[in-house]
Amino acid sequence: MDAKTGSNIKTATLSVGDQSWSFPVYEGTVGPSVIDISKLYGQTGMFTYDPGFTSTASCESKITYIDGEEGVLLYRGYPIEQLAERGDFLETCYLLLYGDLPNAAQKQDFVKRVTYHTMVHEQMSRFFQGFRRDAHPMAIMTGCVGALSAFYHDSTDISDPHQRMVASIRMIAKMPTLAAMAYKYSVGQPFMYPKNNLDYSSNFLQMCFAVPCEEYKPNPVLARAMDRIFILHADHEQNASTSTVRLAGSSGANPFACIAAGCASLWGPAHGGANEAALKMLAEIGTPDRIPEFIKRAKDPKDPFRLMGFGHRVYKNYDPRAKIMQRTCHEVLQEVGITHDPLLEVAMELERVALNDEYFIEKKLYPNVDYYSGITLKAMGFPTSMFTVLFAVARTVGWIAQWKEMIEDPSQKIGRPRQLYTGATRRDYVPMESRK
Ligand code: CMC
Repeated sequence: MDAKTGSNIKTATLSVGDQSWSFPVYEGTVGPSVIDISKLYGQTGMFTYDPGFTSTASCESKITYIDGEEGVLLYRGYPIEQLAERGDFLETCYLLLYGDLPNAAQKQDFVKRVTYHTMVHEQMSRFFQGFRRDAHPMAIMTGCVGALSAFYHDSTDISDPHQRMVASIRMIAKMPTLAAMAYKYSVGQPFMYPKNNLDYSSNFLQMCFAVPCEEYKPNPVLARAMDRIFILHADHEQNASTSTVRLAGSSGANPFACIAAGCASLWGPAHGGANEAALKMLAEIGTPDRIPEFIKRAKDPKDPFRLMGFGHRVYKNYDPRAKIMQRTCHEVLQEVGITHDPLLEVAMELERVALNDEYFIEKKLYPNVDYYSGITLKAMGFPTSMFTVLFAVARTVGWIAQWKEMIEDPSQKIGRPRQLYTGATRRDYVPMESRK
């Protein structure tokens, strides 16, 4: 059945014992079809079982498409390579939020609206003093992003389309400011206010690396690299953090609280924490001669060690973002005058060895976007603890676009997965004196 016209084309039949049931099959514009099992429980009394949602479409979406077998990533139909080469991050934000690339007037208006929302409420800065100086910046971000809902009451009514849009713009505008404040706090430097004459990425570099006592001129090559990193990470359909945002939002929670939930989920090393983990791993390997030892460990089923920055739930081919990231990495290293980087040397050799190893070939494990982003960000001057924060800044637009799409979907209801219960059956309370 076509999802939009409602005309029945195909059904799937489920048989259990001598009973069978039919379920409608919906086709998307591209990609795998889905079997609509929303009536499964009502009709059969059974649930489906799919830990990690490897075969479950949790929603209908028009935002991002990934073909993991072919290594394709499209935002609203546009290939990531074209957006990263020819577009900029705020244009990408507009595209993700509104569905189409902006014309010149729309772009100008959007950039202005984002730019004039970059300052955070002055009282927000006091929150930072409550954190230890050595707090992980993602811990600070998770707390401070959630706290935004305590300041912007005029954009938390999710039933008002205008308030939803204001909240979306605020999130995109204020995340870099909070991220830069988290960084400045960790190094004991004064917070830098946003500068409205700078573009989004140059302004972010300014807030991170400028000091009030000196003139700061953003480096255009580094600003362009930052912008490209933001574009590459802007959205990735229903990944763990995005699904977290959708699930949190499905209960009617306000967008700031939902994005804070997204930050918490992104922090994990299997998700947004992977670039930090990849860089630590490359540093631990240290020199190319130690690579075989680590490859051996990654292949050992008894050893929990994995090559960080390798493998992906969806990409079973080269991650298209990784190719762009590798090029950007070389550009940045050249710009900052690093002609010989031992980490890059280890990374390139490890990639070469892994891509020729039967284990990685057979399991279709390729470098993902995080493999080269850590080296690039380090060369730009960011400490490893900031890597996931930068990912969160970039992914905010994806989270908010997906949240908005969910709220505006008339079929939306609270997310409530079911379970296969394997615990104890009913038993009576045992008084303490009778327990063994
Ligand atoms: N190194 C060694 N073996 C691996 C790796 C790796 N990086 N990734 C997967 N495998 C093996 C795994 O041991 C398993 O082997 P077997 O079938 O013998 O048990 C097989 O490949 C399939 O792995 P899986 O864990 O079932 O696959 P998944 O789709 O659940 O996991 C992943 C995807 C990204 C969590 C995983 O590949 C991984 O842990 N990679 C390292 C962390 C990383 O780089 N994450 C960043 C993801 S991209 C950024 C983002 O979108 O957040």
